[in-house]
Amino acid sequence: MLSLRGLDVRYGRAQVLTNVDLEVGQGQVVALLGRNGAGKSTLLRTVMGLLHASAGQVAFDGRDLRGQEPYRICRSGLGYVPEDRRVFTRLTVAENLDAGRLPPRPGLPEWTPRRLYEIFPNLAEIRDRPGGQISGGEQQMLTIARTLMGNPAAVLLDEPSEGLAPRIVGQMTRMIGALKEHGLSILLAEQNLRFASQVAEQVYVIETGRILWHGAMADFLADADLQRSYLWV
Ligand SMILES: Nc1ncnc2c1ncn2[C@@H]1O[C@H](COP(=O)(O)OP(=O)(O)OP(=O)(O)O)[C@@H](O)[C@H]1O
Ligand SMILES: [Mg+2]
Repeated sequence: MLSLRGLDVRYGRAQVLTNVDLEVGQGQVVALLGRNGAGKSTLLRTVMGLLHASAGQVAFDGRDLRGQEPYRICRSGLGYVPEDRRVFTRLTVAENLDAGRLPPRPGLPEWTPRRLYEIFPNLAEIRDRPGGQISGGEQQMLTIARTLMGNPAAVLLDEPSEGLAPRIVGQMTRMIGALKEHGLSILLAEQNLRFASQVAEQVYVIETGRILWHGAMADFLADADLQRSYLWV
């Protein structure tokens, strides 16, 4: 579905990603785990065409994404939820959802506000409130729901659990489970292993811009030494 090969990315003279290979299969939930500054957001931004790789390939659904404009990448069925929650503060929750609407994609379920409210019941309750007057957790949910209104085949989520109250993290976990059931492919950048372990089946560990380990989440969880050596020293 999404395939990265030998990706190098630099900011000026600083090399931030080095020779990154990564695969997200159809319907898979894949976690990209790494500390602050490891290069997670840079990787997602490169896939979306917001940064340009100096070497390597990015393919989505068999098509080469290099050099394409971000809006075209988005229209080709790749949804992106960046780290900072960008809701339209003056529009209501319902209007924010409408703003994300794109035509349905053949072979995939079409998202409607009604279906999204089933997955995000708390958004249904606040549908008439302006985006600027809801909590950070609700804004995070709304940003994801608005992205789904574009009927993507795959979504990139940048630290969706960050800064959320534990109760909201539980909702986020159930929501990602529901998206997986709908056949979406998901790449999740995370620092929160507990959250990632509840939703992802594959793991890539990134440190200083290199993929250091890749395998099944179950194998990662079973190996405490592995976790210590890469994440929690
Ligand atoms: N616009 C920029 N110009 C120069 N360097 C940058 C820029 N943005 C990020 N970097 C550097 O690139 C590296 C990777 O940053 P990135 O934001 O991708 O990390 P991250 O894994 O998403 O971290 P976090 O968990 O804090 O979000 C860091 O060393 C960071 O300082
Ligand atoms: Mg980041």
